[in-house]
Amino acid sequence: MERLVEVEKISFDSKEEIILRPNEWDKYIGQEKIKSNLRVFIDAAKKREDVLDHVLFYGPPGLGKTTLAYLISTEMNANIKVTAGPMIEKSGDLAAILTNLNEGDILFIDEIHRLSPQIEEVLYSAMEDFRLDIVIGSGPAAQTIKLDIPRFTLIGATTRAGMISNPLRDRFGMHFRMQFYTHKELAKIITIASEKLGKTADDDAGYEMARRSRGTPRIALRLLRRVRDFAEVEDEPRIHLERTRHGLNALGVNEHGFDELDLALLKLLAESRGRPIGLNTIAAALSEDEGTIEDVIEPYLLANGYIERTARGRVATPKTYELLKLPMVSDSGTLF
Ligand SMILES: Nc1ncnc2c1ncn2[C@@H]1O[C@H](COP(=O)(O)OP(=O)(O)O)[C@@H](O)[C@H]1O
Ligand SMILES: [Mg+2]
Repeated sequence: MERLVEVEKISFDSKEEIILRPNEWDKYIGQEKIKSNLRVFIDAAKKREDVLDHVLFYGPPGLGKTTLAYLISTEMNANIKVTAGPMIEKSGDLAAILTNLNEGDILFIDEIHRLSPQIEEVLYSAMEDFRLDIVIGSGPAAQTIKLDIPRFTLIGATTRAGMISNPLRDRFGMHFRMQFYTHKELAKIITIASEKLGKTADDDAGYEMARRSRGTPRIALRLLRRVRDFAEVEDEPRIHLERTRHGLNALGVNEHGFDELDLALLKLLAESRGRPIGLNTIAAALSEDEGTIEDVIEPYLLANGYIERTARGRVATPKTYELLKLPMVSDSGTLF
């Protein structure tokens, strides 16, 4: 199912998305704690004329991991080379990337949890000692060649912190968990972006889009572009509240930013009347793969108290019953 509020895990940005991406540190809204920590480490590294320590970002898609990686490279005056876990198939691919880096360069590996264990192992010595151990030949005649590589910074991004092996995780000096954005932060992002698009959103219109963006800038910007289209068709110079509401409703994005898939998940849980439901059952019922449910759909619902994870599965919360206007009644007819 194509979702308007969907966020792809590895996204290939359209031209408009590139225009909307903040290209200055101060234009990156929110994630204040991460930004202030990073600021200290960036300034310290620059002062020592050293490379920045390796950085790991984790969190749901669309929250600004890639954007932040680019901004770090700008702040460090460093070149950035971008790749993704699934694109590195052989350890030779990684060796080629690493030997082609220059001193101080940044290597950004998106979806880093999808590297194979053999390739991860090549990374260990590269990250720790800036050295490649290349095995040539096999069996008793095999030889290991040690090759020095330039000092570089690895920035890793993942939607799945739990899927990164401990040895890899330990080699990152900094770990940052991305947070969902507040409505206020999203409204600010929307305002700035709407000006860049040449159709400014009124404050209340921006806020309306923000409320329906599942705490995620990528979704906020997507909603903005769609609403902008509605305003354009109507020949309206600005984006106002009424057009925004009309547009978002027409697109099937509800008051909370939930679409059919979110609602189907919540309904499934609520209708089980308090019995936990396992991830595989949910995936089968919604015809979605487990990864999408865990990485893309659930985090926002969990963070906002609509579902809870227990050892035996997921359960709905009172908030869910209220949202769906369903009574909290168990099979035996008692309230829970
Ligand atoms: N803090 C932010 N301030 C402004 N815009 C942001 C911010 N974070 C993300 N964005 C916008 O949202 C889009 C998605 O962000 P991205 O960095 O690609 O997310 P991720 O890599 O976590 O999936 C970007 O194109 C950018 O325009
Ligand atoms: Mg990204």
